[in-house]
Amino acid sequence: MLIEIYLSDLKKQREAKQLNDPISNSDSQVAVNLASRTYAIEINPGLLNQLSNALAGFVSDDHVILVTDNNVAELYLETVVSQISEIAQRVDVIRVSPGEESKSISVCDELWQRMVDFKTDRQSVVVALGGGVVGDLAGFLAASFARGIRFIQIPTTLLAQVDSSVGGKVGVNLPGAKNMVGAFWQPELVLIDPLVLETLDEANFRAGLAEVIKYGLIMDVGFFESLEASVDLIGKRDPVALTQSIARCCKCKAAIVEEDERETSGRRAILNYGHTYGHAIEAVFGFGRFLHGEAISIGMTCAARLARELGMVQDFFVARQTELFQRMQLPVDCPAERHDELIASMKHDKKVARGELKLILPVRIGEVVVVAAPEDQLILDSLKN
Ligand code: GLY
Repeated sequence: MLIEIYLSDLKKQREAKQLNDPISNSDSQVAVNLASRTYAIEINPGLLNQLSNALAGFVSDDHVILVTDNNVAELYLETVVSQISEIAQRVDVIRVSPGEESKSISVCDELWQRMVDFKTDRQSVVVALGGGVVGDLAGFLAASFARGIRFIQIPTTLLAQVDSSVGGKVGVNLPGAKNMVGAFWQPELVLIDPLVLETLDEANFRAGLAEVIKYGLIMDVGFFESLEASVDLIGKRDPVALTQSIARCCKCKAAIVEEDERETSGRRAILNYGHTYGHAIEAVFGFGRFLHGEAISIGMTCAARLARELGMVQDFFVARQTELFQRMQLPVDCPAERHDELIASMKHDKKVARGELKLILPVRIGEVVVVAAPEDQLILDSLKN
């Protein structure tokens, strides 16, 4: 019986794969179609060395506020500033400390003041050069300063390239409440250079892969299969495999954001597969112990186990998902302690609507649904490896 379901699932997946576009070499531009807020995502190896061309038409004789962190600045600030200076009227640079602590109202307060000192006005443009923290913080600065000014993203981590730089979610954390203050503020342009990933440390690179695999799991079985077939190439950071994978993720994300820009219909919520568990793991065990991608890899594993308990997927789904995470060297085991605290933290998650916790659970590779959380005991069981 189990074998029959598995074979029919595989057949459906192969048919779906034939319908899906294969990953192609020509994926260098993805559009996010949002009426007057439509923008392009450019994905090109070497793009960071062609910024004056890529930004022409977006920055012409304008005042640019470039926001970055000290780590990224060491590697890329000189190149980026010299190129933007060719086309901008003036470039002012804001450097923040690397890490989640910079995504706070107190840092934001300091930066608003710097923006005033720089004589920033409504014609100025904020450019974010960095990972998710820099993108979210700089985006929130752009969204809030002078009631909103222009914004461009140049993401430099895999996580930022495939998720946080696309879709306009910007914001800062409150103590104990991640991303709680923010806005939907779309960038005018996203420029992605997969070659910058060469300088990303291995742990952050691997953690970003959790978000990459997530797209296959939630909406693109063909992509999931491509990833299964290219673990070695991706692990070696092959620029072609990375460019194709990033483009595929951006296409998936663009499609979701086009359908549900402000997360009102529930469609955008599927991007949070594994995140309710993952956010709780980050909060309870401290943000230093697990990287975000590691926490959501564990979170997706717990969500798959819960879906299996609820009869939504079979064993082989959990096994196949877990196998890909492990081949990509991502953790899948939830720590064995503090499970009651994890449940309490999950109930504080932003996905709690009118007191009811919602979870994103899989029904097959390439499809997830939003469901009301079952009783605590089942969630507790799903935390056990
Ligand atoms: N990272 C989830 C979203 O953009 O909606």
